[in-house]
Amino acid sequence: MALTPVITEHWNDPTLYTLDGYRSHGGYRALATALKSDPDVVIATVKDSGLRGRGGAGFPTGLKWSFVPQNDGKPHYLVVNADESEPGACKDIPIMMANPHALVEGVIITSFAIRANHAFIYIRGEVPNAIRKVAFAVEQARAAGLIGKNILGSGFDLEIVVHSGAGAYICGEETALLDSLEGYRGQPRLKPPFPAVAGLYASPTVINNVETIANVPYIIDRGVDWFRQFGTEKSPGFKVFAVSGHVNRPGIYEAPLGITMRELLDYAGGMRGGADVKFWLPGGSSVPMLTAEHLDIPMTYEDMAAAGTMLGTGTPMVFDSTVSVVKAVTRWLEFYKHESCGKCTPCREGTYWITGVLEKFEHGHGSQEEVETLTHLCNQIAGRSFCALGDAAATPYPAALKYFREEFDAATHTPVDETFDPRASYIFAEAAAR
Ligand SMILES: Cc1cc2nc3c(=O)[nH]c(=O)nc-3n(C[C@H](O)[C@H](O)[C@H](O)COP(=O)(O)O)c2cc1C
Ligand code: SF4
Repeated sequence: MALTPVITEHWNDPTLYTLDGYRSHGGYRALATALKSDPDVVIATVKDSGLRGRGGAGFPTGLKWSFVPQNDGKPHYLVVNADESEPGACKDIPIMMANPHALVEGVIITSFAIRANHAFIYIRGEVPNAIRKVAFAVEQARAAGLIGKNILGSGFDLEIVVHSGAGAYICGEETALLDSLEGYRGQPRLKPPFPAVAGLYASPTVINNVETIANVPYIIDRGVDWFRQFGTEKSPGFKVFAVSGHVNRPGIYEAPLGITMRELLDYAGGMRGGADVKFWLPGGSSVPMLTAEHLDIPMTYEDMAAAGTMLGTGTPMVFDSTVSVVKAVTRWLEFYKHESCGKCTPCREGTYWITGVLEKFEHGHGSQEEVETLTHLCNQIAGRSFCALGDAAATPYPAALKYFREEFDAATHTPVDETFDPRASYIFAEAAAR
């Protein structure tokens, strides 16, 4: 399957991040089209395109927009989720660095569609370069009359605020993000009410991922049929896949949904040293791992679900046989333990206990009884936590046990570093030499 660079098409143009550079490739043409149209027509177009949210859950974007009540007399808000912090996920930050005006144009069109006069872009605080690029793009767009009062003579007004987060993974959860944006400690809210009805400042709010919004100008400019020629009926369009791990050319590969991991691996130059794939995760650490036998499954929302995992953020992490599954799962659980916001007991206490038991295995002190204890702990967290971070924390272990039980058995007597030399798995030669 051929790559389909769209959002990434002109990334080798060093001026793309500027207004002139973006405009030289047709930028802001879609905005003019949208503003001449009707907000409901824009919503219908995105609905018909079948675009699904690229933040992980794959919720239909146009449908989400249509939930915003109309003529309710309340202010409406658009909030862009640019908090990208999931282990393995690295596609929104490159989009913001290379093509920030696609995001800004998408924000203006989306705000027009949902009748919002204020939009917020909430960017992960640890990426100042991305924050600067987006802030610069907003500044340039404002100076050109694309943000502010009466945009392009349409009568539509919009202000965009670029907000820097403070470094908490939980603030990527949409309602925790809203609390953080309002100045409170970032912790998830009880749903319902859903943000489309009562979100930011208790007003109707649409929250979308960076990549989702960056797709919008291209759909408006090129049309539904063009978008739907890629992908499948249930997963139309293309995706910015970010491939990382033991591949020769880790990086961004924009391809139709439905491409297989084997094809993506080819684009990424194959495995380091021609090694075999041991395990891989289609979209961040929050989705169950797969193995080499799953390399030919189409990467769509529906096919990944049928294989027992999820497409997630579409940012595959690929590991060769130098990596201990026990150690990888332990590192991910340490992350979830650290990032658990503490609001609910199953996640706050459960991530602490799972990590403690996994660390025993890592040092070769696990027991057969504790193999079952870990399963029990995961079952107590999954579906019983207040938000999806808890479910995510309960995800890595069951899949690892299903495919690599022998490694947990071995870790009942042998430290994993004795079986898997950590230096062999290092990606950077300098690190291995230290
Ligand atoms: C712990 C946690 C972290 C999340 N982090 C992000 C994130 O960094 N970016 C993102 O777009 N969505 C993230 N999400 C998903 C959001 O809650 C939400 O579903 C998404 O922003 C909706 O946008 P979309 O419909 O365009 O995908 C996270 C969810 C959870 C539970
Ligand atoms: S599941 Fe974890 S992150 Fe989510 S509310 Fe509960 S403690 Fe906080």
